[in-house]
Amino acid sequence: MKEIVLLYWPKGGSVEKTANKLFESFDKNDIDIFDLDSFDLGNLKNYKTIILGNSTVGAERWQDADNNNIWFSFFRELKDYDISNHKIALFGLGNQVLYPAHFVDGLGFLYEEVINLNGNIIGKWPTEGYSFTDSEGVEDDYFYGLALDEDFEPELTQERINKWIEQLKKES
Ligand SMILES: Cc1cc2nc3c(=O)[nH]c(=O)nc-3n(C[C@H](O)[C@H](O)[C@H](O)COP(=O)(O)O)c2cc1C
Repeated sequence: MKEIVLLYWPKGGSVEKTANKLFESFDKNDIDIFDLDSFDLGNLKNYKTIILGNSTVGAERWQDADNNNIWFSFFRELKDYDISNHKIALFGLGNQVLYPAHFVDGLGFLYEEVINLNGNIIGKWPTEGYSFTDSEGVEDDYFYGLALDEDFEPELTQERINKWIEQLKKES
C-alpha cells in the first residue's frame, strides 16, 4: 500500500507540471497522484500523508466562496472525514515578480482549511531566498508549505522539491 497521495488543482498549467515533477521525484512505491477532480475521497484513509498543491490566481478569489472553485467543494466534502490522523503537506505556485504583495496567498487558504479540520501540517518551508513583500501563505518567516515560482525561478524548482522531500521524510 502506498503511503502518500498527492492531490492537485488546477490542471493544464504549472501546478500540474510541478505536481508531476514532485511525483517523479518520490519513490514510485510510496506515492499516488490525482488531480482533485479524479480522486475518490473514500480512499483517503488508505494514505498516511496527503500532499495538496494549488496556485494563486487572483488573490481575492480565495476569499470569495465561488462554487466553481473545486477546492471549496473538496474541503466541504472533507468535513465528513476525520483527517486528524494524517500528515498534510502543502505546495503552492506563485509569481514573486508580478505579485510580490500576494505571493502564494493560496497556501494560506489551504492552510486555514486544513487547520479548521484539525489536520496536522508538515513541510513548512523557509522564506529565505525568495523576494516578495507580503503573503497570506507565510507565518514567522515560514511558508505554510513549499512555495514554487515557475514563472521566474523554474531552474530552482527541482532543487527545492528534492530538499522538501527529504524534509517531509523526516517529519512524516
Ligand atoms: C490572473 C493571474 C493572477 C495571478 N495572481 C497571483 C497572485 O496573486 N500571487 C501569486 O503569487 N501569483 C499569482 N499569479 C501567478 C500564478 O500563480 C503562476 O503563474 C502559477 O504558476 C500558475 O499556475 P497554474 O497555471 O497551474 O494555475 C497569477 C497569475 C495570473 C494569470
